[in-house]
Formats: sequence, C-alpha cells, structure tokens
Amino acid sequence: MMKVLVTGGAGYIGSHACKALSKAGFTPVTFDNFSTGWHDAVQFGPCVEGDLTIRADIDRAFADHAPAAIMHFAALSRVDEAMAKPGLYWRNNVLGSLNLVEAAVEHGCRDIVFSSTCATYGDQDNVILNETTAQYPINAYGASKQAIERMLHDFEATHGLRHVIFRYFNVAGADPDADVGEFHRPETHLIPIVLDAVAGTRDGVTVFGTDYPTPDGTCVRDYVHVSDLVDAHILGLRWLMDGKESRDFNLGTGTGFSVREVIDAARRITNKDVPTKVGNRRAGDAVKLVSGSVRAEEELGWQPKRSDMAHMIEDAWRWHQVADYQR
Ligand code: UFG
Repeated sequence: MMKVLVTGGAGYIGSHACKALSKAGFTPVTFDNFSTGWHDAVQFGPCVEGDLTIRADIDRAFADHAPAAIMHFAALSRVDEAMAKPGLYWRNNVLGSLNLVEAAVEHGCRDIVFSSTCATYGDQDNVILNETTAQYPINAYGASKQAIERMLHDFEATHGLRHVIFRYFNVAGADPDADVGEFHRPETHLIPIVLDAVAGTRDGVTVFGTDYPTPDGTCVRDYVHVSDLVDAHILGLRWLMDGKESRDFNLGTGTGFSVREVIDAARRITNKDVPTKVGNRRAGDAVKLVSGSVRAEEELGWQPKRSDMAHMIEDAWRWHQVADYQR
C-alpha cells in the first residue's frame, strides 16, 4: 500500500486524516513530536517520533518508510500563544516546514498536501474570502502559514514539489465513531470549552468580547466538520496523484456562527445549561472569518456531509464523553 507521511498525525486533524487515509487504502505514517499530540491517537499505521526542526529526524522517516506523498499538519496553531511568542511560531512552523520540504526534495517525494488557515487572510471587513483574496495575516500564526504557502510555490518552481494548499476555517466535531477526536491541553477552542462546561469539568464559558461589529456583538466563524475536512484531503491527494496542477482551496461551508450562536446550539443539542460570562476581547482575533468560495466543491468534488452545527456538536459531545473517561 502506498505510504503517506502525516506530520502531526497524533494531533486532532492529523489523526482523523490517518483514519481517512487508511480507509482509502493508504498507509499513513505518523510523524509527531507529541508536544500537542497523543500516543493513543495513533491507531492507523506506523509512527515515527521526531521533530520537524531536527532535520535528522525527518531523514529517518523518509529513509525508513519512503513515503510517496506528504500530508503536513504539524504546527503550533494557537492564536493567543502566537501573539505572546511570535518567535516560537516562526521557528517551529516555518523552520520545521523548510526542513520537511528540503528533505522531501532530496528523498524524491514530490507531492504535499498542506494544512493552511483562513488566518492568512487576516481581518478583512466586508471582503469575500476566496482563494484570490489578498492575504494580510494579523498574527504570527497566520503569518507563519502564509510564509509556508510561499515556500511551497518556490519549491515547486525550482524543485517540482507539487502542492495542494487547504485553508481551513474553524475545524470542529469528531470522528462519528469516536475513535479519535479533539483534545488539547490547555484547551482554547470554543466548542470543546463549551462541552467542558456542559460536562461540569469547567465552571462556564467566557465570551471573549461582545462589542464586535456583528449582529450579537460576538465574533463570527465558519465551522467545518473534521471528517469532511479530511475527506477533502483525500481528494487533494488524489488530485496530485492524477498529475493535476498545484492548487489552493478554502475549506469552509460559507455559513457563519457567532460565539453566542454556538453556545446556544450546544445548550439545545445537549439539553444542558452552559453558564457564560462576558470577558475582554482576545488579542489576535478577527471579527468575522467566513469562506466565500466553492472551489473545493466545484473542482475537487468535495461534498461536506456533517458540517451542520448539530452534527458537529453531537459528534464532539459523543467523543468528549468517551475521551474524558479514557484519559
Ligand atoms: N472564544 C470565546 N471563548 C473561549 C474560546 C473561544 O469567546 O473560551 C471565541 C474566540 O474569541 C473566537 C471564537 O470563540 O471568536 C472561536 O475561537 P477558537 O479558539 O475556537 O478558534 P479561532 O477562531 O481562534 O482559531 C481557529 C483555530 C486556528 C485557526 C483559526 C482561524 O484554532 O488554528 O481558527 O481563524 F487558524
């Protein structure tokens, strides 16, 4: 079976990608430093423990497994942390990716699917965010991802390393079978925090800012189910294997939900109370991030199946209950 190197394969999205790859007939080879990933998320193929900032670690993965392609998820991805420690984001994300693509070229691997973000677009009021929108990131996380996108273009031009770039909006939900799911320590993401409050393991949810220029004053995001997201990655991989040109795709549904709307949906779906309080705005947050693109649907044939808020919260809640018992 064809091997695919999955950097960050022990993390939230990477572990779902490993499951999808395995179901699609590939062997996912997880490469992870376990700084934010989890050993029990590695269930679908071999694992190389290593760090992308250490070139010898990556060479070992290529030498031992000779992957035909790469899915590159490994990155630090917290906006609050990036605001506090920009150097950490530039070093880890950009240097790590540079080591990866240089190793790929040297080992003759020519296809990479890259996990980018809508945070590369920045905070653009009343601008439709599609793949031709200019990118003006407002935090070091978005800037580091934008730099890696640029790196991929340069490596294609000179070395023929072909890429599919996916710019995710807000990834949510969990594997419907609850084999893997979202688990961060510390947790900073809205839906798992709301579910912690539902479960009673956290007192409540602080809403970060209620004075934004949105209908209810809270930030608006476009949530996409992790299972749909990784389905797009399989389509992106096949796109490259079919010899099609390098391409970038937004992955969102085009529907925005405010923080308050997400909390209300969680109340409805779990039938439990979610105590909330109002806090200050969080540094680095954009007001509204909603995809305005259907390129992934039109060109890749991507069809999101579970990216409605009810499925995302139901699946996250199912996983949340199992995961809390497991760990
Ligand atoms: N929020 C709260 N209270 C919380 C947690 C979050 O009000 O306790 C708010 C945030 O301020 C934001 C929204 O809920 O307005 C969503 O926040 P998340 O932390 O869940 O997600 P982000 O939008 O900050 O970030 C996510 C990913 C990033 C990605 C980014 C793109 O974590 O990797 O989307 O905007 F880059």
